[in-house]
Amino acid sequence: MTDPSDIQADFATVFGSRPTFVVRAPGRVNLIGEHTDYNDGFVFPAAIDYDVRIAGRPRDDGVVRLWSALFHRRAQFALGTRRRSRRNGWSNYVRGVGVILASEDYPLRGMDAIVTGTVPLSSGLSSSAALEVASCLAFEAAGEFSIEPKRRALLSQRAEREFVGVQCGIMDQFISALGQANHALMIDTRSLDYQPVPLPSSGVSIVISNTNKQRGLVDSAYNERRAQCEEGVRRLVKALPGIRALRDVTLADLEAHGALLDPVVLRRCRHVVSENERVLESVEALRSGDLGRFGRLMNRSHGSLRDDYEVSCLELDAMVEAARAVDGVYGARMTGAGFGGCTVSLVADEAVGRFKQSVGEEYLRKTGREATFYVCRASAGAERLL
Ligand code: GLA
Repeated sequence: MTDPSDIQADFATVFGSRPTFVVRAPGRVNLIGEHTDYNDGFVFPAAIDYDVRIAGRPRDDGVVRLWSALFHRRAQFALGTRRRSRRNGWSNYVRGVGVILASEDYPLRGMDAIVTGTVPLSSGLSSSAALEVASCLAFEAAGEFSIEPKRRALLSQRAEREFVGVQCGIMDQFISALGQANHALMIDTRSLDYQPVPLPSSGVSIVISNTNKQRGLVDSAYNERRAQCEEGVRRLVKALPGIRALRDVTLADLEAHGALLDPVVLRRCRHVVSENERVLESVEALRSGDLGRFGRLMNRSHGSLRDDYEVSCLELDAMVEAARAVDGVYGARMTGAGFGGCTVSLVADEAVGRFKQSVGEEYLRKTGREATFYVCRASAGAERLL
């Protein structure tokens, strides 16, 4: 999937010349560690072989002209404007990155650019983060400057938070910028240190199942969960003066001081604290080749997201249950922010065929919706292809 020739031909059709650069940035699947990243915790995602691509050519008049090959729409803006587009929401990710880079005095140039991609939209596979990171690389290529990958991730995250308005953590932009082929990354979202952990090269597949239920209301619910976690810390700090975030809290702390918290906030905190423990344990399980244990941790993560964090939904639960009923499935859970989108399952290679068949049928029976499946490989992070 690294051949840039199709998008080059599309660019020539739309803009009548040849692009001078092509960049790609992947989407991601989070194996475990959900809603922990804005609590300074641990996450364990992999970049996937579905990506966003931008082909472009610099312009000297400070104008950015975009063509979305997915939506068949044009968008245009002048560098330096902070205006959001209502009609072309997709272009706000590019605009936002431009605004953030300008605020940091990078030598931006305008460009003609075509945007396309294979990351399913609104599915919890981080098409937005992929578009932000790809946009950053495109501005770098057009302006002939270069940003170190961690910083690229942080600037892209700022575009999402300050321009688009979702108070997201760093996971999605980080894995899109720094992913490694055949590896998942265990990321410490406080220090931004990370460890690449090899995924088994054969015998088992990562299968993403799309509920095809678009994530509704996710932004407001997401910001609300975040606020509840912060409230938890504000109250717990009275008994635990050393803590800065839920990352610093243990399950024993919660047992001892849970009375300080409103019952809902206590459950939110219990999810985050237990999920951090599960991430660390799952890294050990994967390193020692214990897929059974890894799968059980995925299952427990889903239960915690469903019952304590309350970010699952009927469709995600139905998909996960149907997956677990298939012989050869190690574990299954929702992935991403929740309220729709995708699940991730760890499936023995020999079981992938019957997985699709049986999960597809059962999911349709329970929800009336068709599922879509992606058997994915862990891919490299964002890069310039031309
Ligand atoms: C979204 C956010 C991430 C992370 C996940 C939940 O994908 O962008 O930062 O918080 O939700 O784990």
